[in-house]
Amino acid sequence: MSKEREPATVAAVDAAALQNEALAAVAAASTPAELTELRTRYLGRKSELKQALRNVRDRESGMTLNAVRERLEEAFALREAELDRTALDRALSSDGVDVTLPGDELRVGQLHPTTQIRRLVEDAFLGLGYEIRDDREVETVEYNFDKLAFPSTHSSRSPRDTFFLSDDVVLRTETSPSQIHHLESREPPVYMVSIGRVYRRDAITATRYPIFHQFEGLAVDEGLTLADLKGTLLHVMRALYGDDRRVRFRTHYFPFTEPSIEPDVSCGICGGAGCRTCKLTGWIEMGGAGMVDPQVFANVGLDPEAWTGFAFGCGLERAAQLRHDIPDIRALWENDLRVLRQF
Ligand code: DAH
Repeated sequence: MSKEREPATVAAVDAAALQNEALAAVAAASTPAELTELRTRYLGRKSELKQALRNVRDRESGMTLNAVRERLEEAFALREAELDRTALDRALSSDGVDVTLPGDELRVGQLHPTTQIRRLVEDAFLGLGYEIRDDREVETVEYNFDKLAFPSTHSSRSPRDTFFLSDDVVLRTETSPSQIHHLESREPPVYMVSIGRVYRRDAITATRYPIFHQFEGLAVDEGLTLADLKGTLLHVMRALYGDDRRVRFRTHYFPFTEPSIEPDVSCGICGGAGCRTCKLTGWIEMGGAGMVDPQVFANVGLDPEAWTGFAFGCGLERAAQLRHDIPDIRALWENDLRVLRQF
């Protein structure tokens, strides 16, 4: 090395100016790439500082340059940490998942009001020790009418009232055929409820629909009376409509019961005082019922002298309408979620 170059090189480095320039550049660096580039420029092997350090001959300028190097190393490390943190903050706020935020609400569906009523009815009867039964919707004329002692002239036997699939097969018009199926498959005593769809050729109105559901009850035992029927219906009506309900019977006619009655339940809207829903009577019709006709016992091979029984049938949609005060039965078949979500 020549004598001229040595001092010239050291002198060419103004340590303070170099440090200020480098510190300003580091502070202004806004990306890790920029910082890497600056590190090469100010601290790299070919940087002014490193070259000067390599050529240092005296202790003093060595110490000065080393102090600058340390100061710069520190500044680079600090700025690098700052940039890392900024990058992390940005990532967290843009695509981070905040696990403490409430999630999107998942709507859980609920049972259709008719199904809710069906379950209430099932619970009420299971509590009384009844068996639940499910039967066919496509039924023979024999089971839908003949064995239930419908006279040959009964209006329900007409294709105007009933959907016939052939001369002797119909869509069942009621759940009453379950009485026959049950008595043909079990020895009394029996206590059973059959629930399901039935079909009638009715025009659609606010209170009628050609498809609906019924629950049908049958009890056959020794010594049953109308009082047992009344107590049973009272229990179920109270389960459906509340403890303060009363039940009354009106005489009626059905082919398979004798005597036949129609049970009414006291109106819950007016408490029995009379209102629009109960047509000012204080009572609401609940379906049909009666004591099993001796002819029905004979039709299934049971001795009418040995056995007594009662039966009843009620519409589920009607029960749902009454329980929830639904003015139009069509709402139960249209599956409009705005309606169904209210129950
Ligand atoms: N099946 C009748 C109907 O749909 C209702 C009914 C009446 C059922 C009397 C019965 C009963 O079990 O005993 O109109």
